[in-house]
Amino acid sequence: MQIEDYLSQYYQLDEIEEIIINIAKETKTPILSISKAKILSFLVKILKPKDCLEVGLGLGFSTYAILKELESNANLISIDKNFHRIDLFYEKIYKKFNKKLRRKLTVYPLDAFYTFEIFEKIDKKFDFIFIDSQKRDYYYFYDYLVNLTQKNSLILIDNITYNFQTFKKITERSEKYIEGIKLVEKFLKKISKSKKFKFTFFTNGDGMCCLIRL
Ligand SMILES: C[S@@+](CC[C@H](N)C(=O)[O-])C[C@H]1O[C@@H](n2cnc3c(N)ncnc32)[C@H](O)[C@@H]1O
Repeated sequence: MQIEDYLSQYYQLDEIEEIIINIAKETKTPILSISKAKILSFLVKILKPKDCLEVGLGLGFSTYAILKELESNANLISIDKNFHRIDLFYEKIYKKFNKKLRRKLTVYPLDAFYTFEIFEKIDKKFDFIFIDSQKRDYYYFYDYLVNLTQKNSLILIDNITYNFQTFKKITERSEKYIEGIKLVEKFLKKISKSKKFKFTFFTNGDGMCCLIRL
């Protein structure tokens, strides 16, 4: 048992969290791990961001972690390109959200790149961004992330070792991940040299990267 799994037993989950975890198991849909969701909630609680963006709504486990701690005058835009997941979210999970949670959330059934282009055109800035989408895209997100943030904006990015693949020996890497791994490694190199962001890692699960815009 990993320390993360051991400690997770001490988290008290609420009804909505239990529902999402059960649906994720039934439908074999990936969601953010409990310990990562707790970090996400904590960051939102401490930072009190006003304009938040999430890339990768999925079943809304991370969405709920953000919304729970988001102040009533703040808002979260969550995007996902998978209509089936969005349907499932509205059918089974959104219904359980109270009015306060619903009021803070807008879901765009769109691709991240298309959405970023629109936000850039209208010069939209976010003070908090959470990313949990296709890992190979992270490298190509970089310039958008620079443009969609301002000083002190925080970005949290999940699966920064791409399901543990980036630190496996090249010979042990799974064939289907090879291209994606190269891109995640390129992204890591890019942020490590970046003059636009300060960064740190959280080592829960396969890791998260936390960036602060300079
Ligand atoms: C791991 S799931 C997200 C899980 C979610 N954060 C949760 O905790 O329930 C990843 C999601 O990202 C979405 N996604 C991947 N690439 C995307 C893109 N380029 N634009 C929008 N959504 C994307 C997928 O459709 C998928 O639903």
